Amino acid sequence: MWSLYTANMKDMSSASSFGWNPEEKKAEMFHRAARHLIVRSATSNTTLCGFSTLRFETEISYVVPERKDDVLYIYEIHVAEDYRRKGIGTFLLSLAEQLGRKWKMNRLMLTVLLANTTALHHYAKQGFVIDASSPNEQHDMFPSPCATAEDSSGNQNESSRQPCDYLILCKLLSESATKEGT
Ligand SMILES: CC(C)(COP(=O)(O)OP(=O)(O)OC[C@H]1O[C@@H](n2cnc3c(N)ncnc32)[C@H](O)[C@@H]1OP(=O)(O)O)[C@@H](O)C(=O)NCCC(=O)NCCS
Repeated sequence: MWSLYTANMKDMSSASSFGWNPEEKKAEMFHRAARHLIVRSATSNTTLCGFSTLRFETEISYVVPERKDDVLYIYEIHVAEDYRRKGIGTFLLSLAEQLGRKWKMNRLMLTVLLANTTALHHYAKQGFVIDASSPNEQHDMFPSPCATAEDSSGNQNESSRQPCDYLILCKLLSESATKEGT
């Protein structure tokens, strides 16, 4: 998993505001709260085709800042180069979504670099939107948080947001993520 992560992300992370910090990243990826979905080749059990790393967490509610939402955060999603564009990334996202719904999480979340256009296409196709907590609140590939959610959330407003090189995206999984008082 670490080799695949390094092959996929070392250059992009190094060039980003996150930087490349292997020790910190390993501690995050293999944290005791991390859960991994692993896709292996049907013909070679030792070949890792892709994986996703998930954590069940709480985040400030999409709608009511005093409230916490239960979220399933996708920390990583990676497909090996030879196996891309075959639906594995979509499969991993749909499994994460099913898990989130099964455990009654309010939303599925992830962070993506603006430079990662392949991943941006992937998430746009899967119906992700910009999360109310995202430092960048607009991108032409994604719907922004709805006005009511933004107004009542108390999250950062446009003028206080700093330009940065990533987006926080989400997919709402339950009604309570969009309505107050449920
Ligand atoms: C992003 C990633 C996980 C997608 O995995 P994948 O298995 O290739 O994705 P899928 O085959 O399920 O493709 C789903 C959709 O994503 C989009 N997509 C995937 N690769 C794309 C590319 N190179 N260019 C444009 N769109 C692309 C397409 O809309 C595609 O649907 P389509 O094939 O019907 O057009 C994979 O490219 C990857 O591992 N990249 C490196 C690691 C990474 O960036 N991870 C995300 C970190 S936030």
